[in-house]
Amino acid sequence: MTADQWTRVDQYIDELFVGADPVLEAALEASHAAGLPQIAVSPTQGKLLYVLAKAVGARRILELGTLGGYSTIWMARALPPGGRLITLELDEKHAKVARENFSRAGVSGVVDLRVGPALALLPLLGGDGPFDLIFIDADKGGYTEYLSWAIRLSRVGTLIIADNVVRDGKVADPNSTDANVQGIRRFNDALAREGRVSATEIQTVGAKGYDGFAAIVVGSTGSTGSTGSAGS
Ligand code: SAH
Ligand code: DHB
Ligand code: MG
Repeated sequence: MTADQWTRVDQYIDELFVGADPVLEAALEASHAAGLPQIAVSPTQGKLLYVLAKAVGARRILELGTLGGYSTIWMARALPPGGRLITLELDEKHAKVARENFSRAGVSGVVDLRVGPALALLPLLGGDGPFDLIFIDADKGGYTEYLSWAIRLSRVGTLIIADNVVRDGKVADPNSTDANVQGIRRFNDALAREGRVSATEIQTVGAKGYDGFAAIVVGSTGSTGSTGSAGS
C-alpha cells in the first residue's frame, strides 16, 4: 500500500460519509488563502470527531489548537442545544481566520475562541468545566502538560482525544531528534503511566498521510489498563 492508495481510499470514504460540505470547504479555502499551514484534520477525521462528540453526548467541549477552526466546526455541529465549545489558539492571525470561518458556519454563538498560549489559558477554565470531550491538537511539545490539564478539567467518563501521536511512525524511534516526536514520546510515556485513565492509540493513514490518535477515557472502572495498577 502506498500513500496514493490511502488517499484514494480516504476520498472514497469521504464521498460516502462526508460528501460535499461547502461551509467546511470554505473554511479550508479561507485558511489556505490566509497562508495558514494545511494541517487541519482530514474530512474523515473531522467526521470521526463529530461521531465521537455525539457518542458521548458532549455538551461541553474543549479544544487545544484551533488553527482555522476546521476541527472546531465539526465538533461544534455535534453539540446539542445549550452546548458550548471552548477552543484555545496561540496565534491571533489563526484566530482571526477561525472567527470568520465560525461565522460562515453559523457556530459563532456556541464557540468561545480564546487567544493565547494554552498553558496560560487552561488555568482559567475551572469554572467552564468539567468538559465531556477534550481534543488536544496544539504544539506537540506541550502535550504532556496538556494531558495533566485535560484530566484536571475532566469528570469520570470524559473522553480525551489527542492528534498526531504517531508522526509517520517516528514515535517508535527512541533516538529521534525531532522535537515534535520527542514531545509526543514524553506525552505517550506520561499517558502510559497515568493511573487515572484508560487509554490506547490507533494508527491512521489517509489524506493526511500516516499518523495516529490517542483515545483516553478518564476514571473509568473495570480492568482495561495495560498493567494491574495503571488505568482502571
Ligand atoms: N485543530 C486544528 C488544527 C490545529 S494545528 C484542526 O484540525 O483544524 C495546531 C494549532 O495550535 C496551530 O494553529 C497553532 O498556532 C496552535 N498552537 C501552537 N502552540 C500553541 C499554544 N502554546 N497554545 C495554543 N495554541 C497553540
Ligand atoms: C502538524 C501539526 C498538526 O496538528 C498536525 O495535525 C499535523 C502537522 C505540524 O505542526 O507539523
Ligand atoms: Mg493535528
